[in-house]
Formats: sequence, structure tokens, C-alpha cells
Amino acid sequence: MNIDLDMQLLAEFEIRPPLNQQLITLRCQCFPDTQQSRSYFKQLPQHRLLVFQDCQLIAHIGLEHRVITLNEKVLRIFGLIDVFVDPQHQGQGIASAMLTHLTKLGTQFSVDFLMAFATDPRIYQKNGFHLVDNYFQWLRVDEHKNYGVAIERIADEAWVKSLSGFPWTNGCVDLLGYLF
Ligand SMILES: CC(C)(COP(=O)(O)OP(=O)(O)OC[C@H]1O[C@@H](n2cnc3c(N)ncnc32)[C@H](O)[C@@H]1OP(=O)(O)O)[C@@H](O)C(=O)NCCC(=O)NCCS
Repeated sequence: MNIDLDMQLLAEFEIRPPLNQQLITLRCQCFPDTQQSRSYFKQLPQHRLLVFQDCQLIAHIGLEHRVITLNEKVLRIFGLIDVFVDPQHQGQGIASAMLTHLTKLGTQFSVDFLMAFATDPRIYQKNGFHLVDNYFQWLRVDEHKNYGVAIERIADEAWVKSLSGFPWTNGCVDLLGYLF
């Protein structure tokens, strides 16, 4: 689908209160089961890819630029957080266009993988991600408290897209931070 979108990549610190309020409102609309009066689930993302129509926010992907390890090999990733599109604009290819944009950006700037955790993976399957099954370590964070390190197998929720050609393998993944 060929769509011309007003897409902007902003650093988190650039998000001013009016836009923050739009983020909170749209996030609650798109995730009715996790109503929160803040614009993030666990932690502030470093960047946000946003789409606007007539100055109104209609789509969002939070971006975590991070190094992780896979069997002690250091990998650079873009972790994708809170992917959502205004219900009135869903099904028009907006999320796919944003994922294509991040694929190009990551490829251009030496990111090895896009990575997302999702129970409903259809949007990722449609955009070239594949399911991985690994033991993961991460910092447990809940409501602004950390609860130490978790080590668990994640068999059906971790999705990756290779941008560097490096193959994903079995083994241990250290997320070197919270699970986004
Ligand atoms: C998922 C979501 C971001 C897709 O945005 P979009 O702009 O409509 O996506 P596109 O038009 O590029 O692609 C549509 C595809 O999204 C997928 N999709 C639809 N609803 C979805 C959902 N709740 N979760 C994951 N994927 C979904 C389908 O594969 C759909 O393809 P189809 O129309 O051929 O069935 C949007 O439906 C949304 O915001 N849902 C509510 C929030 C949410 O569940 N986000 C988590 C995503 S893991």
C-alpha cells in the first residue's frame, strides 16, 4: 500500500505535555485492558515513532535502542514497545508502514535485529518477523520497582526480524534491562 504519512521520530525528552496527553488517551483507547494514566507501560522508551493527521496523533511505536547478548554475542537491537494505531485508522497499512520505516532505519544504522514481544503476532508475521524460542534473562520491573533478575524460557511471544543477516540461534538471551 502506498501511503503518504506525517511520520516523526522524536526523542522521549522532546514529548511535551499536550502530546503526552494525546499519547495517554490513544494508548488507553487501543489497550482497553491496561488503562493507565501515563504514556508508558514499564519505563520511558528512548524514542517514539509517531504518525499524525491534522496535528492529531494516530499511531505510535516506542523504540528501545539497546545491546543485548545471545550466547554472549553482543547484538544491537531496536526493541518495539506499545505498537498501536487509532481504531478509526486501523487496517490501512499504517503499522506496516511504520515497521518498514524502522526496518530501513535499523538497516542504515547497523541495528542487527528488530525485536518485539507479542501474544497476538499477526502484525509482526505480516512484516517479516519470525518466532524465536530461547531462555531469556531480564530485569523484572513492575510499577516503578525492580524485583531482580528473571530467567525463563519464552517459547511463543518473542519475535525478531534480522536486519544484518546475522542468524538468530538457540541459547540464552540476556536483555540487559527490563523486558519491553
Ligand atoms: C495491531 C495494530 C497496531 C495494527 O495496525 P494497522 O495499522 O491496522 O496494521 P496494518 O494495516 O499495517 O496491518 C493490518 C494487520 O494487523 C494485524 N492485526 C490486526 N489486529 C491485530 C492485533 N490486535 N494484534 C496484532 N496484529 C493485529 C492483522 O494481521 C492485520 O492484517 P489483516 O488486515 O490482513 O488481517 C492495530 O490493530 C492496533 O493498534 N491494535 C490495538 C493495539 C494492539 O493490540 N497492539 C499490539 C500489537 S502486537
